[in-house]
Amino acid sequence: MAVCDGYASVAPIWWLLPTRPAAAKTPLKSRGPHPDSAYSSLDHSHGTKMLKKIPIAELRLGMHLHAVEGSWLDHPFWRSKFVLTKVADLQSLRTSSLTHCWIDSEKSLASAATPPGDETQNSAETLFAPFVLSGDTSGRAATAAEDSVPFDEELKQAARLCRKSKEVVKQLFGDVRMGKTFDPQCIRPMVAELAASVFRNPGALISLTRLKTKDDYTYMHSVAVCALMIAFARELGMDVEACRDAGLAGLLHDVGKTSMPLEILNKLGKLSEAEFAVMRSHPERGHELLIKTGTAGLAALDVCLHHHERVDGTGYPRGLLSGEISLLARMAAICDVYDAISSSRPYKFAWDPADSIARMASWVGHFDPEVFPVFVRSLGIYPSGSLVRLQSGRLAVVVKQHPKDLTVPTVKAFFSTKANMPIAVVRIDLSRREAHDAIVCREPRGSWNFPNLEALWAGESSQT
Ligand SMILES: [Fe+2]
Repeated sequence: MAVCDGYASVAPIWWLLPTRPAAAKTPLKSRGPHPDSAYSSLDHSHGTKMLKKIPIAELRLGMHLHAVEGSWLDHPFWRSKFVLTKVADLQSLRTSSLTHCWIDSEKSLASAATPPGDETQNSAETLFAPFVLSGDTSGRAATAAEDSVPFDEELKQAARLCRKSKEVVKQLFGDVRMGKTFDPQCIRPMVAELAASVFRNPGALISLTRLKTKDDYTYMHSVAVCALMIAFARELGMDVEACRDAGLAGLLHDVGKTSMPLEILNKLGKLSEAEFAVMRSHPERGHELLIKTGTAGLAALDVCLHHHERVDGTGYPRGLLSGEISLLARMAAICDVYDAISSSRPYKFAWDPADSIARMASWVGHFDPEVFPVFVRSLGIYPSGSLVRLQSGRLAVVVKQHPKDLTVPTVKAFFSTKANMPIAVVRIDLSRREAHDAIVCREPRGSWNFPNLEALWAGESSQT
């Protein structure tokens, strides 16, 4: 697959996410809705028809707060526009001196449409079960629930799903390339299976989908973006159906590449200007293909067309600004790039998962700064498979996220930098006092040449 998505321009900024300052706000200088009616309901313009004034008392979790009526001095948050997902935030607004606010119904989550109740009195688990959001801001712990199946246990199931999904996508893309008709809804059961795996333990499937070969890259990338979208949607508090819609959209986001000439698609070197222009048409070609099916759904249509848009307006094909790009498309832009830069490929250097997140966080203007932290929470600051250096001088691979604190995952230590030699592999839960160790930093993979790092966390499942 040719490198065509412009990820090469890496800002030389390295810093750790936990010490990241508040993200700079991207000005929301909306240019109004784009005249593209097929997916206008998902293109969140700031037209007044989507805004509704309501009393603060009627504000609910899942609603997108657009503005408050009254002095901003009384507004308890530094952000002005965001989806209310935390009980603590809702309580802050209700106890402020504000009386009314404006909500954007198009940007609100489906859960906001449920009958009103006293959310500050009910448990968060009841409100968002089984995908809970709480007032906790300490990371994926904010979604409260422990993974229902341990990482190691889910790996086998996830490996089986990876193999099966890869074949289904390969068949689908092959059929589309040959001009055969297809029904996107036929792959919905498979998406439901992938979603079930992500719900049981997101780390297992997502980690495995990073392992790609030259031959299966395109198909596995689609499966990876599907899994990432599901985990992301879950972290945002979307319900099961919405998570599956997001997954289906992720699976089909690059279907337009089936319309690209193979000599360009498979070119290993840098693309010429003309070739790049052809490749940049894949969102529109994919959108056309999906419209023809008649059953793709608005989410898939929207994500397919807009997954290369950037919040600063420098993306393609439309050059939309943040306020004009739907939430799903902004999510897909993040998932697409994360998988592209963190995937192991024989002919391409892949960044470590934790490196990938840190680098993406430094690219101002590419991604929505308000939802990017949610994506990080869905994976962990040190996603499973990340190489880290411990205080003891040992190198370790992250194998499991802690449900309450993303800075203290479970790791497998395997190398001593002091002795400069491998050590017996030892599993360490860094959240436990008796661990007597901690992560010092992400360790650049390029500094070492560990040939079987994946086997450390994935075992036999690394051979997908
Ligand atoms: Fe793409």
